[in-house]
Amino acid sequence: MYNSRITGLGYYVPDNVVTNDDLSKLMDTNDEWIQERTGIKERHWIPKESDDTSAVMGAKAAKIAIERSGLTKNDIDFIVFATLSPDYYFPGCGVQVQDMLDMPTIGAIDIRNQCSGFIYAISTADQFIKTGMYKNILVIGAEHHSNGLDKTTRGRGVAVIFGDGAGACVLSRTEDNTKGILSSHLHSQGKYADKLIVESPSIKNWIPEIIASKGEDISYYPYMDGTFVFKNAIVRFSEVIMEGLNTNNLTPTDIDLFIPHQANLRISQYVQKKFGLSDNQVFNNIQKYGNTTAASIIIALTEAWEQGKVKENDTVVLAAFGSGFTWGSVIIKW
Ligand SMILES: CC(C)(COP(=O)(O)OP(=O)(O)OC[C@H]1O[C@@H](n2cnc3c(N)ncnc32)[C@H](O)[C@@H]1OP(=O)(O)O)[C@@H](O)C(=O)NCCC(=O)NCCS
Repeated sequence: MYNSRITGLGYYVPDNVVTNDDLSKLMDTNDEWIQERTGIKERHWIPKESDDTSAVMGAKAAKIAIERSGLTKNDIDFIVFATLSPDYYFPGCGVQVQDMLDMPTIGAIDIRNQCSGFIYAISTADQFIKTGMYKNILVIGAEHHSNGLDKTTRGRGVAVIFGDGAGACVLSRTEDNTKGILSSHLHSQGKYADKLIVESPSIKNWIPEIIASKGEDISYYPYMDGTFVFKNAIVRFSEVIMEGLNTNNLTPTDIDLFIPHQANLRISQYVQKKFGLSDNQVFNNIQKYGNTTAASIIIALTEAWEQGKVKENDTVVLAAFGSGFTWGSVIIKW
């Protein structure tokens, strides 16, 4: 049986930085509240005049990842694209990347698992490689949140949290089973779908109905029961990390680097404390980017790697929790 290793990493965020003070000009919020509750100082939002979208940013990040892998676009066998903010209702962003990068007519799928999107995407790609079906897969996570947020005081509990950006990696076949993705662990609990949701537009609630509501139906903005999400996140993060460690006969002391989905710095700090991890063992960058959902783990992993924080033979743990609810972890021997 084959195994899969990350051979190239890249990320892209739009230039436009939006600080907490900038947000306080749009809504009743302030830097102190946002930093204290979430750890976020600033985020990148695509400006109105830009051509960036989830697919465009994903393609930019993918280009860097392919270059760094030493491969060319013609060596890629398949694309897995995770996003909750695709350019179109359909088709997905994966096929757009196939076109934007002028790749051969390889297969492409979109993964719709929100904050757990990258975990699901890399796990999916890993299975295609482990079975021998593909050799090199492009895995992308990208989000264009800013255009879909309620930037008034009504939406402040959600709008201040989310940022735009993309990350990508190339996952490649290896015959060394001691290296690469050791295991991945995926979960869902649809009974809480309504706790973090964008309900419209949907086939259930189509655009003419929203228009007919004359602004009273705001179900096209993300709704989040923040406290409920927080309480579930800290439990599920802990469970799924332990599940991954146990599967590989590892303990928290074996973790060289933990990269949590960047949901909220307080969630990451809770998990860090629970597992007794030092600051060097955990990588956070939510301070600069906010929550970029499916992009957050792969942007963070790329930054950590660029800063020399991911080394050969390191045990790297990725974990996420989010809308669905969905959650998961991936254990990597680098
Ligand atoms: C969203 C979150 C930061 C809110 O923090 P919280 O401590 O739970 O705060 P609450 O929602 O209870 O709100 C507390 C008060 O702050 C207010 N508030 C909400 N957003 C605000 C903002 N941006 N600025 C200022 N005040 C704000 C609320 O209206 C509320 O006021 P009230 O007490 O007068 O009613 C927190 O619940 C959270 O991080 N949840 C998890 C979110 C997450 O990770 N989501 C991504 C999916 S993984």
